[in-house]
Order: sequence, then structure tokens, then C-alpha cells
Amino acid sequence: MPLIAILAGDGIGPEVTAEARRVLDTLGLDLTYEEGLVGGAAFKAAGHPLPTETLDLARRADAILFGAVGDPDCDALERQFRPEQAILGLRKALGLFANLRPAKLFAGLEDASALRPEIARSIDMVIVRELTGDVYFGVKGIRTTADGLREGHDEMRYDEAEIARIARVGFETARTRKGKLLSVDKANVLETSQLWRDVVIEVSADYPDVELSHMYVDNAAMQMVRNPGQFDVIVTGNLFGDILSDEASMCAGSIGMLPSAALNDSNKGMYEPIHGSAPDIAGQGKANPCAAILSAAMMLRHSLDLPDAADRIEAAVAAAILGGARTPDLGGTLTTREMGDAVLANLA
Ligand code: NAD
Ligand code: IPM
Ligand code: MN
Repeated sequence: MPLIAILAGDGIGPEVTAEARRVLDTLGLDLTYEEGLVGGAAFKAAGHPLPTETLDLARRADAILFGAVGDPDCDALERQFRPEQAILGLRKALGLFANLRPAKLFAGLEDASALRPEIARSIDMVIVRELTGDVYFGVKGIRTTADGLREGHDEMRYDEAEIARIARVGFETARTRKGKLLSVDKANVLETSQLWRDVVIEVSADYPDVELSHMYVDNAAMQMVRNPGQFDVIVTGNLFGDILSDEASMCAGSIGMLPSAALNDSNKGMYEPIHGSAPDIAGQGKANPCAAILSAAMMLRHSLDLPDAADRIEAAVAAAILGGARTPDLGGTLTTREMGDAVLANLA
């Protein structure tokens, strides 16, 4: 029986993960669950944001359902002890280089979008974000210059193999959709981006059926609010993908709506909402659990080969939204639990 590691984490992480778990339980699937400590909660209980037992659990599990990490109490800790290191550590340790972040506007959420309804309606894209490289994992630190000044540095780097493998995920994803791939970079300024663009073009020779185009990231950020309907599959680096996906989420109604899958070569995956621990609303029942619930659906589809169950969850979320279920981020008054109830009520 497949084992799911539940790493709920901090802030609203446990609140939204509980709703995803209720939805999974209702489907009556043959799955077992094991919970692990992660993030600030793990640091406070066990002295480390990613305890060995949690990493072992993540390695043993067939898939990981992750909530969120991040705790203001921990922001002044030495970096290795900060909650965010848990998520970065899991991504790196499990080789989860391919991050799929679908952003689509659910019918009925036109008015929740930060964009005008007629612009928002067209949003249906997948951001394929590289997840184990870039400025996130380069040499970093704060050092002292010859003039005695403190100097922060974070090296941006990608080798061609890292670029080629995420490019392939982009092309493969494009094949399952409209056969169009947009690569987003900053090749007009950054050498790392120039190599990115060169390698993506080289890989495109293996995908003559996919139409490849390129865009600079600043323009992409602008186009995301001008005309997001032009985007279908975007492949980009770790930092640009992080920023563009938060931007896409608000165009699609709320950051509380966007799920994600982080995959390695063998489709082992970690599934999580793209949002964080939201300390400003934690513990108040205000969090939208849809991103977590939709992440569970992605888990069923990508790691557990249960596409029908995934479809059922996604249809239930869509029906709940269409029926008017709204947490405060969507302009409504439902609590996290009530939003979970609304999804459950729509599970066919
Ligand atoms: P955040 O995503 O936690 O919150 C940003 C804003 O969006 C907040 O106003 C929050 O209330 C709102 N929001 C987020 N998720 C929501 C939801 N499901 N429903 C309703 N509203 C929601 O980003 P932040 O405030 O920049 O970061 C807070 C902490 O989370 C930091 O410690 C950060 O490092 C961490 N973080 C973790 C992850 C992760 O675990 N994957 C992702 C992003 C940020
Ligand atoms: C995300 C988060 C993480 C990231 C942080 C918490 C390390 O923002 O998953 O989008 O930047 O990748
Ligand atoms: Mn982010």
C-alpha cells in the first residue's frame, strides 16, 4: 500500500493540510499516512527544521504532502536552522528538480482576480519551474570587502545538464497541452540566462512538434497582468519561477488556489500549495485550503497513478467554487473547515 508522508509544517500549513487529508480520506483510497515534523515546528521540538527521521520518512514514502514552513520566531536564526531550509533540503535531497505550478482561473472566480474579469477568464497555464539550482543553491554568504564593507553575495548558476533536463519537462508538458513552450530568462543581462537560452534551443531539436519562444522575465511579469491568456506552458529558472507563480496566482484569484508538484526523475514527488505559512492569518481559520486540496489531487495523478481520483477532487473544488464557496481571500466568509466541507459536499 503506498505510503504518504504528511509534513504539515508551520502557520496555516497544518490547517490546510488537514482539509486535504479529509478529502483524501473520503475517497477511500488504499493509502497509508505517516506524519513528520518539519520547519519551525520541527526546530522547536527537535532542534532542526528537517530532522533525520523526517528526511528518512520522506525517502521511504511514495509521495509527500507538504503544508508550508516559515515562522517569524525563527527569522533571526542562523540560516541552517531556519524553517525554509527544510523545504530546500527536501527538494535537494530527493532531487525534486521539476516544479509544476498550474495556474488557471476557476469559473466563478473572475471577480476575485486582481485583473479585470474579461482578462482573468483566459488564465490557464503551467509554470514549469526549475527547483534545485539557480541562485538558491549557489555559493552564498555575507563577507567583508577590502574597504571593510559588508557584502552579500549569492551565486546564480546552472550547468547545461540541469537546464536540459528541465527544458525536457517543459517540452513534454507542452506536448500534453497546446504544443507551445515559452522559456523565460534574462539573457540580455545574465550569462546564466544566455546558457539557459542556448541549451533550451539545443534541446528543442528533439521536439520539432513544439513551438518554442523566449521572453525576458521583466516583460513576462508585465505580460502576466496585461494578457495572461497568451501563456500556456512557461519553463523558467528557480527564482523567476518563484516570483512569476505568485504573480500568476493573484491573477487567477488567490494565492490560496495554486497547487504544485515537485518531481524527480522517477516521479517521486512532493506536493504543496505555492503559498507559505501565512503568519498573518494563522490559527484563525481564514486560510483557503483549495491549494492544498488541489496539491493532493496532483499527488494522486503524478505519483500514485490515480488519475480518476485526481479528477474527482479537481471537479469537486471547481463545483464548490462555482457554487459560491469562498474563504476571505476570495471575498467570502467561509472558514478553512467550511471550505473543506464545501469541497467534500461536491465529491461525486
Ligand atoms: P505567504 O504565502 O505565507 O503569505 C502571503 C500573503 O498571502 C499573506 O497575506 C497571507 O495571509 C496570504 N495567504 C497565503 N496563503 C493563503 C491561503 N491559503 N489562504 C488565504 N490567504 C493566504 O508568504 P509570506 O508572507 O511572504 O511568507 C510567510 C512565511 O512563509 C515566510 O516564513 C516564508 O519564508 C514562508 N514561505 C513558505 C513557503 C512554503 O513552505 N512553500 C512558501 C512561501 C513562503
Ligand atoms: C515556494 C517558497 C520557497 C521558494 C521558499 C519558502 C524557500 O517561496 O515554494 O514558492 O522560494 O521556493
Ligand atoms: Mn514562493
